[in-house]
Amino acid sequence: MEKEKQVANLLQVLTPEEKINLVVGMGMELPGISTLKGKNKVPGAAGSTFTVERLGIPSIVLADGPAGLRISPTREGSDQTYYCTAFPIATLLASSWDTELVEQVGKAMGAEVKEYGADILLAPGMNIHRDPLGGRNFEYYSEDPLVTGKMAAAMVNGIESNGVGTSIKHFAVNNQETNRMLVNAKVDERTLREIYLRGFEIALKESKPWTVMSSYNKLNGTYTSQSRELLTTVLREEWGFKGLVMTDWFAGDDAVAQINAGNDLLMPGTDEQRTALLEAYQSGRLDKEALDISVRRILEAVLHSPTYSQYKYSDKPDLKKHAAIARQAAAEGIVLLKNENGLLPLQNNKMKVAAFGTGSYDFISGGTGSGNVNEAYVVSFVEGFTNAGYHFDENLKNNYEAYIKTAKEKLPETPWFLGPPPIAEMPLEAVKIENMAGQSDIAFITIGRNSGEFKDRVPTDDYYLTDGEMDMIEKVSGAFHAKGKKVVLLLNIGNVIETASWRDKVDAIVLAWQGGQEAGNALADVLTGKVNPSGKLATTFTVKYEDTPSANNFPGTELPGAKEVMLGFISKGKPSEVMYEEGVFVGYRHYLTNHVEVAYPFGFGKSYTDFSYSGLTLNSDKFNNEMTASITVKNMGKVAGKEVAQLYLSAPGKSMEKPVSELKGFTKTKLLAPGESQTLTFKLNARDLASFDANRSAWVAESGNYTVKIGSSSVDIKAEKTFSNTQEIVVEKVHPVLMSKP
Ligand code: GLC
Repeated sequence: MEKEKQVANLLQVLTPEEKINLVVGMGMELPGISTLKGKNKVPGAAGSTFTVERLGIPSIVLADGPAGLRISPTREGSDQTYYCTAFPIATLLASSWDTELVEQVGKAMGAEVKEYGADILLAPGMNIHRDPLGGRNFEYYSEDPLVTGKMAAAMVNGIESNGVGTSIKHFAVNNQETNRMLVNAKVDERTLREIYLRGFEIALKESKPWTVMSSYNKLNGTYTSQSRELLTTVLREEWGFKGLVMTDWFAGDDAVAQINAGNDLLMPGTDEQRTALLEAYQSGRLDKEALDISVRRILEAVLHSPTYSQYKYSDKPDLKKHAAIARQAAAEGIVLLKNENGLLPLQNNKMKVAAFGTGSYDFISGGTGSGNVNEAYVVSFVEGFTNAGYHFDENLKNNYEAYIKTAKEKLPETPWFLGPPPIAEMPLEAVKIENMAGQSDIAFITIGRNSGEFKDRVPTDDYYLTDGEMDMIEKVSGAFHAKGKKVVLLLNIGNVIETASWRDKVDAIVLAWQGGQEAGNALADVLTGKVNPSGKLATTFTVKYEDTPSANNFPGTELPGAKEVMLGFISKGKPSEVMYEEGVFVGYRHYLTNHVEVAYPFGFGKSYTDFSYSGLTLNSDKFNNEMTASITVKNMGKVAGKEVAQLYLSAPGKSMEKPVSELKGFTKTKLLAPGESQTLTFKLNARDLASFDANRSAWVAESGNYTVKIGSSSVDIKAEKTFSNTQEIVVEKVHPVLMSKP
């Protein structure tokens, strides 16, 4: 019997209590406040739905996270291990600008979800990098909604190709961790539509995620998990989403309002929620039709799940194959920021390397919190480069390893989901750097940063380097340059840090991001030229934090009577509301329009070769429903490489102020041999031309001249051509909802 009929039949026979059980999760195991009702089929998974034995409705398993499946690596009474592959973080994947690659990563990730018996992966995370201090930016892709939406769609398609589900999250406007469960994000309608909802809209147009996870925060006064305007009017009536919406864990404050709004599944689920729903059902406050709709959506997910089809999962995914994919992806997302006189790639593994920075030996594979993965190993830079045949100064290595061991033993206990605090850089007095510079051929310095769920980053000693780090750069570059030797700086970070004040002191800078468990090998592949770096920034590196357009209002202001909730003990302060004052001028949209100098611009990344752009053509100089642009990219250098060509559009700003240019398309070439060319084609439709006119609650493409700019970054425009749109087009009218209240 087809699924639809099955669902209809089940709805007929389910009792109200059973329906209410189904819309509330089975609880979760948390130290000290376990609300779990029954046994976790997959220990370490984030949650599961309720079972109704009587009707053969199984409980399905929901597990984190965006960088790979997160489950317990060991189990009571079993000597088998359950390690998962730690893939590169989302920010690195976006830096590859390669949606096919991201889909491959998703495919491998989804295979592990299936083989370990889970049904839905709570990924991808896809909130906008609004502020570099956002604690979970590593789990998200970009400051730009197009990159965000395209990457998320690729990830969803990859994961779901295994017959398991995904959850695009956190819907919406969850761009900070500080007081995330209470803070009210105040955003105007245009900014909401063009920036903070747009990525989700693109992802839903280009993929079919089984579920959406609403966010913790309020949006213009209403919890997103309780906003019918967001979850039903926009998500379903406007965008046609057919799957289920789940809350984030313990989000919101009114279970009845959540179901009535179209938030179908309350996770992880508590008895209080069940009781409240039952009482509301009896009193009539709970909309019975809304309840049935939610139950229907949950049954549809359950009936499509591997658990329902009793898939015989092996608990033995192909971790070796997936590690190779993780390594390839990590290399593709590495961004070469500086390479003075073509220092890199290094092709002489006889040279002796001095590796400075605790991070060289203790590499960070990914961020903390639910976005963390329990992987079997992490290859550090030193291990990866050793695997590539390079030799390190053993004395220095022993010093660092001893120092790291001692420092780690002294670290204060922190809950697993916070991750360990950073250890201070090893004082270099003990190290005779002059001797090092004499006996080594090249120096590497690694700067590491980590962050994650529950707390945002801070400017001092986080966005900005610590005194110890600055001192290390000064001393190492001074000593090695005095001997005519070079210094390479490696950034093993989850999101943006300050670079302008020290970058002139080193000869090359390689942004390795957090590349997952194979990070060190991937980095070695790039440093040795086995892989020619092709990564480009999907988020801007500003000169100083204060240049960030949200710096004045992040993470919000405390109002009288401000509160914080149970996990507030680790958030900094309790802002009641955060005003998105910068509007659509987020990231490069702000820096380009307001001529703010940045350290490394959006879309920037160097290669070991050079590319030329020629022959930009438009199929017409007048817009007629669609515009096609094409351009030829040629590898002008001596080594094979890939280029990311980006299409930016400048639109007439008659009725509203617009960014001077906005990304409307991008394509990564295949691997071009020296002298080889590839012609790339971009298509623009009316929606690509349109901005959101809040006065009319409509997407409108104004009449006037539009300029197509094709660049190798947002500031390095190689060719441009103008076309005209002879008459205004009202592309799409939407509901006037989610208005910001004064
Ligand atoms: C967390 C996160 C969410 C995660 C969920 C389950 O608090 O916000 O991303 O999927 O809870 O762990």
